[in-house]
Amino acid sequence: MNKILTIVGARPQFVKAAALSRVFDASSDFTEVIVHTGQHFDEKMSDIFFEEMSIPKPKHNLEINSLGHGAMTGRMLEGIEQILLEEKPDMVLVYGDTNSTIAGALAAKKLHIKVGHVEAGLRSFNIKMPEEVNRILTDRISDVLLCPTDTAIENLKKEGYDNLEIDMVKSGDVMQDAAMFYAKTSEQKSTVIKDNNLAKNNFVLCTLHRAENTDSKERLQCIVDGLHQINESTPVVLPLHPRTAKMLEKFNIELNITLIEPVGYFDMIELLKNCKCVATDSGGLQKEAFFFQKECITMRDETEWVELVHNGFNTIVGASSKSIIEAFNKVGKQKIDFEVDLYGNGKAGENIVSAIRNTLNK
Ligand code: UD1
Repeated sequence: MNKILTIVGARPQFVKAAALSRVFDASSDFTEVIVHTGQHFDEKMSDIFFEEMSIPKPKHNLEINSLGHGAMTGRMLEGIEQILLEEKPDMVLVYGDTNSTIAGALAAKKLHIKVGHVEAGLRSFNIKMPEEVNRILTDRISDVLLCPTDTAIENLKKEGYDNLEIDMVKSGDVMQDAAMFYAKTSEQKSTVIKDNNLAKNNFVLCTLHRAENTDSKERLQCIVDGLHQINESTPVVLPLHPRTAKMLEKFNIELNITLIEPVGYFDMIELLKNCKCVATDSGGLQKEAFFFQKECITMRDETEWVELVHNGFNTIVGASSKSIIEAFNKVGKQKIDFEVDLYGNGKAGENIVSAIRNTLNK
């Protein structure tokens, strides 16, 4: 029996872990223990995902949050190490690019426990982003790199990973697995469209939480100006992340659009299915827009998901209100063919579990 210890902490990781937990559960040679670092802790940022997506309850919760990067990562490292000594897993599985990701990978590697990285190989090439630092370091100390796209594999090859003793597999993206699975039932489970009086194809779904946007008064103000202009013709709906709420208050910036509480996964899928387009600085939502065949305006200076830009699904606008408006005015004007397989069409979970099996059996 292979024992996997899954480490999650932030909202998108709950979605990704849900897709894989289902496959582990169906595989007779795997057992899974889930550790929640506590990085995201509000009911609406955490618990709701475990309930809605039927993710097995975490066996351990470290309750580490609301700290600076050093303290947060350091305490996670210490806490995870203790759990690993007790649980003795065959592999630690980490997701994405958060402080929980690097803490989990580092704790495991120092104990000579194998590490699997889901969403490996992504790069924004902006080393000032904490996420970029977390990704690069996690990739380097992993034993199996589960890459969602061809671009991710190419990035790793350019960094010389071909010459390292690390398994590299193009697995597809577990977020597509999750989107396809939960989209079947989201309409029965969610009332978000009705509750907020939203008209089909006539609102913009927006999310905003990246440190590079929220922690700069100038960038935040420019984005808010752009959203206000869009909102004059088309309602902008924004489930507000706690970080953004804090920073808007700190900088005394007013945001007069449809602000709602952070939403669960079923609500998010319904918002995606029904919106006119997406405007976001989230990595995950850029892909989810594509899964639901919506154009995406990305309020960042670069993206890890370059294939979305190359195929015309995604426009990078930075934090310029002018570029945000220009991109918005182009939405729906050109014929876009969304029927291309960029992320594995729902088979990523199975591919990942078989790659993990190979690495463990070596
Ligand atoms: C983190 C990740 C980011 C990921 C995002 C997903 C890092 C460095 N960043 O950013 O890569 O895209 O999660 O959402 O790991 N807070 C609450 N309640 C919560 C969660 C957070 O109040 O449930 C507050 C925290 O106390 C903190 C702020 O929001 O003050 C930011 O949270 P933090 O965990 O630092 O990072 P995120 O911005 O969520």
